[in-house]
Amino acid sequence: MREPGKWVRATSLAELLDRQVIGVDVLGVPVVVYSVDGEVFATYDICSHGKARLSDGYLEGREIECPLHQGTFDVCTGQAVKAPCIEPVRPFQTKIEHDDVLVFIDD
Ligand code: FES
Repeated sequence: MREPGKWVRATSLAELLDRQVIGVDVLGVPVVVYSVDGEVFATYDICSHGKARLSDGYLEGREIECPLHQGTFDVCTGQAVKAPCIEPVRPFQTKIEHDDVLVFIDD
């Protein structure tokens, strides 16, 4: 039977507000969390185009630029915005509890 998924702490809100982009392993899943204009988003951390960590990329507005070939993704939806990226990266739900940023992990 499939696990229902659960909310897991990814980082502290204070650290995220300070760094804006944080890559973190959450239950074995590479996740990147972003702070954009006071909102928190999360996507899969591995670029859909190749083996690069989006958490090593450059965040401008709501777009993250991959460090390898400079394709971009919308961090709110995971959709690819700029080539060579075409396939989306998976978005994760987020919520804030006290000073913790949580992401929802399921299969
Ligand atoms: Fe990310 Fe190519 S690996 S754009």
